Amino acid sequence: MRYRKLGKTGLQVSMVGIGTWQFGGEWGKQFTQDEVSRILGRGLELGINLIDTAECYGDHLSEALIGQAVHGHRQEWIIATKFGHRFVGHLHREELWSPDDVRRQLEDSLRALRTDYIDLYQFHSGSDAAFDQTSLWEMLGRQVEAGKIRHLGLSISSRRENFYQAARAAEIGASVIQVVYNRLDRGPEARVLPACQEQDLGVLARVPLASGLLSGKYRPGATFTQENDVRANRDAAEIAAQLQQVDGIRQHELPAGVEMAAWALAWCLKHPAVTAVIPGCKTVAQLEANASAADLELGGTR
Ligand SMILES: NC(=O)c1ccc[n+]([C@@H]2O[C@H](COP(=O)([O-])OP(=O)(O)OC[C@H]3O[C@@H](n4cnc5c(N)ncnc54)[C@H](OP(=O)(O)O)[C@@H]3O)[C@@H](O)[C@H]2O)c1
Repeated sequence: MRYRKLGKTGLQVSMVGIGTWQFGGEWGKQFTQDEVSRILGRGLELGINLIDTAECYGDHLSEALIGQAVHGHRQEWIIATKFGHRFVGHLHREELWSPDDVRRQLEDSLRALRTDYIDLYQFHSGSDAAFDQTSLWEMLGRQVEAGKIRHLGLSISSRRENFYQAARAAEIGASVIQVVYNRLDRGPEARVLPACQEQDLGVLARVPLASGLLSGKYRPGATFTQENDVRANRDAAEIAAQLQQVDGIRQHELPAGVEMAAWALAWCLKHPAVTAVIPGCKTVAQLEANASAADLELGGTR
């Protein structure tokens, strides 16, 4: 594994982290504690030290599975979680952004994670109105002073470019941006990633495998019909077009002998603004394939 400094947090994070939306059960699979413990245990062996989770991947369910798995190894992990929602059922969330609501969510996350501090606490893809609350950032600043939060971050929404929030990160005390960035979605290259570089922000590239479409196992014509798989709700025509694009990438860009998932992660990591990728992972085998991206050197500007 190789490590990079996460912007001005100074934290040294593994270039490949672990995304854990999957552990909440919305990707067509329910996870047992044993599976999660084996995935995270193997992650530690491979040198991975970064976990991304959230309050609403299940009702603090992903956090609770992680909390149990890392208990006894807490110091070895950098745990990023998020705030702003309450899980109310499969793909349904209630938005809760008042300072009091968020403070309660923080306590619930600390309890679920079985820890007394969160390394990175991220604004979870809220609106600009939710973002523009001075009282929210003041409350969170006090939690940083109290030692419950080490650093603040913004996981900006993918519904629009969201330059507004990215450009104001340093102003509200955030030192990390999490953004959708992958070979099929290069939008952040225009303004968001340069704004991160200007403010010396760490950047976590989320959805780096384009929700699995860049994993190499889905060919044109593949569909997602499995019950409780978030991808079953997405526009089928858009997925079909993206899989055609992936096929072109496979033929023209993927070097011979290189696995597509690792290549797609290394592709993100070569952008000079990107600190780490956080691919979602369902099995130890996926974790191992993703970790190998850290060893791939792709030509680039980095
Ligand atoms: N608003 C937010 O803050 C937000 C939103 C979305 C995601 N996130 C975070 O970002 C993380 C990553 O995004 P994501 O999980 O949505 O998408 P992703 O990382 O692009 O794709 C994850 C999916 O790809 C497949 N996969 C992963 N590794 C693989 C491998 N080596 N070989 C083959 N298939 C592989 C798995 O699904 P299958 O095996 O079923 O294909 C997995 O569920 C999430 O887990 C979450 O932590 C945050």
